[in-house]
Amino acid sequence: MSRVALIGTGLLGTAIGQRLMQEGIEVAVWNRTAERSQSLLDAGAKAITKLEFAAESCGAIITVLRDGPVTKKVVAELGDLAGRCVIPMGTMGVAEISDLGNQIQQQNGRCLEAPVLGSKPQALSGTLLVMAGGEATDFAQQQSLLTCLSEQPIHIGPVGSGAATKLALNQLIASLTHSFSLSLQLIQRAGVPVETFMNILRTSALYAPTFDKKLQRMLDHNYADPNFSTALLRKDLRLFLEEATTAGLQEHGLTGLLSLLEQAKGTDLDDQDYCALHELTVLP
Ligand SMILES: NC(=O)c1ccc[n+]([C@@H]2O[C@H](COP(=O)([O-])OP(=O)(O)OC[C@H]3O[C@@H](n4cnc5c(N)ncnc54)[C@H](OP(=O)(O)O)[C@@H]3O)[C@@H](O)[C@H]2O)c1
Repeated sequence: MSRVALIGTGLLGTAIGQRLMQEGIEVAVWNRTAERSQSLLDAGAKAITKLEFAAESCGAIITVLRDGPVTKKVVAELGDLAGRCVIPMGTMGVAEISDLGNQIQQQNGRCLEAPVLGSKPQALSGTLLVMAGGEATDFAQQQSLLTCLSEQPIHIGPVGSGAATKLALNQLIASLTHSFSLSLQLIQRAGVPVETFMNILRTSALYAPTFDKKLQRMLDHNYADPNFSTALLRKDLRLFLEEATTAGLQEHGLTGLLSLLEQAKGTDLDDQDYCALHELTVLP
C-alpha cells in the first residue's frame, strides 16, 4: 500500500498515525503546530512541509482535524488532489461534510468520510468503529487501509450518512454522562453507598459500560489526561442539535445540557476529559 498523508496529529490523529505505522504503512504527517507531530516523526513518519505537495506523494489523505470549518480550510490548502481519496475522520456536521465533499470534488479528489467511535486506546489497538460514507467503490478501495484501524469498518451509505451516525452516537455520550452524573450526585447527597447503587445499576437494564469507565474519575474529580475533551463533546452536541432542528425534532431536552457544557468554556474543564461534565451538575 502506498504512503498515506495524515493531516492533523492531535490526540486522535497521533494515535491513528501510530497504529498505521505499526501496521507497516508509510505515513507522512502535517499539523498546524508542528511539535505535535514530533512523536510520529521520531517513530519514522515523513514530514509534509508544504500541504500543496501532499497529494503528489501519497495514495490517500486522512484528515483528523478539530471540526468541519478547519477541515475545509486545510483541505483547500492541499490544492489539486490529483484523483486522490480524502478520508475525513474528524467529527463534523452532515451539511459540513457534504459541502466538504463537493469542495474535494472541485479539487479533483474523491471524498470518503470515515468518522469514528472510540478514542486513543481503540485507535492504538485497531478497534475503532469506523462509519464510512461515500461511493461504494471508494470504500472498497480504502477498506484495507480502514481495516488497520477498525476490525470491521462499516459502509453506511453516501457522504453525510457517516456524520449523522456519528453525531447520533455522540449525543448518547453526552446524555448518558449527564444522566449518570446527576444520579451519582443524588446518591452521594442521600448518603447511599456508591457501591450499593452501582451493584443495583449493574444488574439492571439501565446499565451502560460507560458508567463504570467514568465512575472513578467522577468520584476522584480527576479529569486529567483526557481521551476526548469537554470542548469537543460540546462541539458535537451543538452539531447534533443543529441536525435535530433541521430534522424537525424536539430538542428542548438537550438545549439545557448544551448550556451546561457552555459553562466549561474558558475554564480548565474544557481541555479535560469530557466526564468533567460531572463538575457542572451541581449548582455553584
Ligand atoms: N479524541 C477522541 O477520542 C475522538 C474520538 C472520535 C472523534 N474525534 C474527533 O476527531 C477530531 C480530532 O479530535 P482530537 O481529540 O484529536 O482533538 P485535538 O487533540 O484537539 O486535535 C485537533 C486537531 O485539529 C487541529 N486544528 C485545530 N484548529 C485548527 C486550525 N484552525 N487550523 C489547523 N488545524 C487546527 C489541531 O492542530 P493543533 O495541534 O495545531 O492545535 C489538531 O491537529 C475532532 O473532530 C473530534 O471530535 C475525537
